[in-house]
Amino acid sequence: MPPPSSEELQRVFKTLSDITRMRILRLLAQEELMVQELMEVLGMAQSRVSRHLAILREAGLVSDRRDGTYVFYRFAAPSDDLWRHGWHLVEKGLASDPTTERDTTLLRRVIAARSAQPRNFFDAVGPDWDALRTVFNDTALRARAISRLVPMGLKVADIGTGTGILACELARLGLNVIGIDQSARMLEAARSKVNSEIFPSGGQVELRRGEAEAIPMENDEVDAAFAHMVLHYVASPGDVIREMTRIIRPGGLLVAVDFVSHDLDWMKQELGVVWRGFASETVEGWLSDAGLLEIHVEQSESLGRERDLPATLIASARVPADQTG
Ligand SMILES: C[S@@+](CC[C@H](N)C(=O)[O-])C[C@H]1O[C@@H](n2cnc3c(N)ncnc32)[C@H](O)[C@@H]1O
Repeated sequence: MPPPSSEELQRVFKTLSDITRMRILRLLAQEELMVQELMEVLGMAQSRVSRHLAILREAGLVSDRRDGTYVFYRFAAPSDDLWRHGWHLVEKGLASDPTTERDTTLLRRVIAARSAQPRNFFDAVGPDWDALRTVFNDTALRARAISRLVPMGLKVADIGTGTGILACELARLGLNVIGIDQSARMLEAARSKVNSEIFPSGGQVELRRGEAEAIPMENDEVDAAFAHMVLHYVASPGDVIREMTRIIRPGGLLVAVDFVSHDLDWMKQELGVVWRGFASETVEGWLSDAGLLEIHVEQSESLGRERDLPATLIASARVPADQTG
């Protein structure tokens, strides 16, 4: 380090020669504080605290951050050797100073008062928080946060993609989706939905025309395959599950969402369904016959509000890790 000039030395010594400034630096090195909080700890008037803060900020030893109408100050560790040495001397010198213990005790009290405010608030609000929090409208935000659990760049198939609603949701999670459907019109609708979306997390959707019974994909091509509300439209759901299993890599996942067995004729008449839902055991049987493991079928209540709707099921199962030997 080249020897400092006398001006530099003067500036460092002058700035650090004042005990109040030293105490302020020591406090701000421990905690980001407002002027009011520094006043409480130091027992000094605002003008005095502000004057010292201005000198420290001028020297580059303190920086500030605005939070609404409040300004918080914090210690800015110097990178310059001379200032760094000066600060180390201050730290060492203050370690045995009688003001240190008192400042630390009062600092703890100030910080405790800060955290008491939200604690008191939430203690008062309790279960009413759920009503208050609706203003944030953050259901989608939570879903996006949870999606961070999903490894980026997974390749998945959406069999019977229809208008691409699930495909887009999966792409929003950062997945590379291949949507398959036999209907040209449904694929057209899916294409315009996909084209109107930007997937910020890097997900993509590719659409291919094809049959669920003969999926236009290679063996082991995807990490997972979905069939969302499709099996009740296919002639042989067990065969489709076997075909989906073919395209999933060893260790990958198959997920099917469908209706639980029902007797709602309107669905056959108005929606053209082939099957009136499936019993959980039937789906478990298909998954097991396809050689899948970790079979899990979960039923949920009917989602129907305007129409009578059946209960739903989500089935998932894993392709054995050593399937291809
Ligand atoms: C009820 S829609 C579901 C669409 C989408 N998965 C969703 O949840 O919105 C059923 C879709 O499966 C497609 N589909 C039905 N049978 C199929 C088959 N054998 N092969 C490919 N697609 C089929 C239909 O064309 C239709 O788009």
